[in-house]
Amino acid sequence: MPTITFIQADGNNQEVNAEIGSSLMQAAVDNVVEGILAECGGSCSCATCHCYIENNWIAKIDPASEMEKDLLECVTEPKDNSRLSCQVIITDAHDGLTVHLPTSQF
Ligand code: FES
Repeated sequence: MPTITFIQADGNNQEVNAEIGSSLMQAAVDNVVEGILAECGGSCSCATCHCYIENNWIAKIDPASEMEKDLLECVTEPKDNSRLSCQVIITDAHDGLTVHLPTSQF
């Protein structure tokens, strides 16, 4: 199982194990990571699972779909490395992935 590190805006971090084939959002929710609300349950319609992928991992993650890109325009403090965590599917290449969380999902 890949290990993922979620880093809160205040610097606190949490390491979790993620199921291959599930989403980054699901790994956060299953492990009660604060800051990932995931109000739509992963259907790419709420943007409350916004996160920032650490720069050295971006190339190892499939790019965002047009639908995800459109929704990312609605998040607070979007950045070049913004993603919706429900759209990032975990593979065995993601062991050690580090993700930063925004100060707020609203
Ligand atoms: Fe709603 Fe990701 S959980 S967009």
